[in-house]
Amino acid sequence: MEHRVWIASVAIILLAAASPDPPDTTRGLAWAYPVGPETPLPAAPKGVVAPGSKVRPGEADEAAGPIDWFPQEHPPAPDVVALTTKGGPTPCAECHLYDGHGFAGSADIAGLRAEYIVEQVKSFRSGERTSSQKPDRFDTTEMIKEARQVSDPDLARAAAWFAALPRRRFVRVVETDSVPVTRPSFFGWLDLEPTYGKEPIAGRIIELPEDPARMFLGDPHNGLVDYVPPGAVGRGAALVETGGPGRQPCEICHGTGLKGGEAAPPLAGRSAAYLARMLWDFKTGARGGPTAAQMQAPAHPLSEAQITDIVAYLASLPP
Ligand code: HEC
Ligand code: HEC
Repeated sequence: MEHRVWIASVAIILLAAASPDPPDTTRGLAWAYPVGPETPLPAAPKGVVAPGSKVRPGEADEAAGPIDWFPQEHPPAPDVVALTTKGGPTPCAECHLYDGHGFAGSADIAGLRAEYIVEQVKSFRSGERTSSQKPDRFDTTEMIKEARQVSDPDLARAAAWFAALPRRRFVRVVETDSVPVTRPSFFGWLDLEPTYGKEPIAGRIIELPEDPARMFLGDPHNGLVDYVPPGAVGRGAALVETGGPGRQPCEICHGTGLKGGEAAPPLAGRSAAYLARMLWDFKTGARGGPTAAQMQAPAHPLSEAQITDIVAYLASLPP
């Protein structure tokens, strides 16, 4: 009896040695998933106005929702986008802003197809679209909450409105080997804030708002800067052209210039950190949904370094 137990244990040990641990895909690409202190967001600064806005100082503090600094730059927004209601969903503009490009940590949804927007929100709602950072990344959790609260008619209105917004350049890519020292800010919500001094980039991408103070104002004219490793844009271009290890050129589905295809969203000129999280979330299977299977073959074989190069290139493209 005893030696049978012994033989069984040896067999288990040998089996374990023969099948190496699967790669830890939940903790890879750490730079794209900053984890910050769990502190509440600071209140928006009072009496400050976004540069160039005609909104009067003080007017912003009385707004019935997220402040719209440049109402002349977009069609009138439906209530679900603009109005804070008691017990209702958070207005979309709070996180995606009135130009749809959002800020670091959020997602850029300007000019995405309305059907795609609806489908994605429904995938957040059903639990098919999650984050590979478990428990779900704070930002993703916020969007999941939103998806559960918003009604289908309101979702359709919001989707049509965001789909009609123009895409414009709001990301600036800089190849460099030294970057500002940063720390994750507010749960990882709003991602990173610069602190003090410089440090080596060490293969990461560091994504910062051009002006952190203006990000807190929700100023849509304040873009992002992506610091990327030297040579990343060129290496990424080659990978995107051939499809890299998955061998399916990205343009086949994402369209000429990566500006969006029939089913696939645009990739050109979007936030490098967001795109990296999405490739990793497809790779790990955390991001599912009705058309997510098409991304399995392209994303699954990509290494962390390849993802970094690919998204540096995509962010640098004209939208
Ligand atoms: C509290 C903040 C917040 C609010 C409010 C919010 N979103 Fe989001 N949204 C996010 C974040 C963060 C993500 C990215 C999630 C991720 O990275 O996993 C996101 C992602 C999305 C995406 C996926 C984009 C893509 O390219 O796949 C869509 C579509 C979307 N939101 C639509 C909406 C709509 C429509 C509303 C209003 C009804 C809304 N969101 C309100 C934070 C928010
Ligand atoms: C066979 C078609 C196909 C190919 C090839 C393909 N994609 Fe996709 N991609 C899609 C579809 C469809 C979606 C939307 C998936 C969903 O609904 O979740 C998508 C979504 C994405 C997203 C998420 C965008 C967002 O708005 O959240 C990224 C990033 C992406 N693809 C990158 C790439 C890259 C990089 C390549 C080349 C290495 C590539 N894709 C090749 C079909 C494709």
